[in-house]
Amino acid sequence: MSAIDQAHYRQVLGHFPTGVTVVAGVADGTPVGLAVGSFFSLSIEPPLVGFCVGKSSNSWKAMEPSGSFCVNILGSDQEDVCRVFATSGDDKFATIGWTKTESGSPLINDVLAWIDCDLETVHDGGDHHIVVGRVRGMDVGHEGDPLVFFRGGYAQLD
Ligand SMILES: Cc1cc2nc3c(=O)[nH]c(=O)nc-3n(C[C@H](O)[C@H](O)[C@H](O)COP(=O)(O)O)c2cc1C
Repeated sequence: MSAIDQAHYRQVLGHFPTGVTVVAGVADGTPVGLAVGSFFSLSIEPPLVGFCVGKSSNSWKAMEPSGSFCVNILGSDQEDVCRVFATSGDDKFATIGWTKTESGSPLINDVLAWIDCDLETVHDGGDHHIVVGRVRGMDVGHEGDPLVFFRGGYAQLD
């Protein structure tokens, strides 16, 4: 039995603010994705990034076989987009505007920035996978404030 209470873990870790991304890929030609706050930059040479994904994630299970994904960094005006991708369900892209990156992964309209990746490695991380991607393309969409998640809610930078 763990000595750390789950609710306490969430409450304490909620004091670490994160940006919000949508990690998106394709499954049999269909776009899939989930909201991810655990995104991190990892290595410049070679260019690697990563994120942690729950082992129960339906979207990750669906996109992993394609071997590529795009990390979409959300702006402060994209809280509604985050809510769509933070809820498990079919066809999250029904109300979302998007185009394809070179890898074929979904690039969501109006994101602050995007990082198109080929899947490099997947490591074990308890009840999560630690996913590492090799960057194959990236760019800034537009300048603006990021969407920030802090203490269980959305927050502004200032
Ligand atoms: C701000 C925010 C950040 C999140 N970060 C992560 C994360 O880093 N990893 C993860 O697995 N789930 C994260 N989630 C939860 C998933 O987005 C959520 O469980 C989603 O329903 C998974 O969808 P799926 O079952 O289609 O994969 C986050 C949710 C929110 C609102």
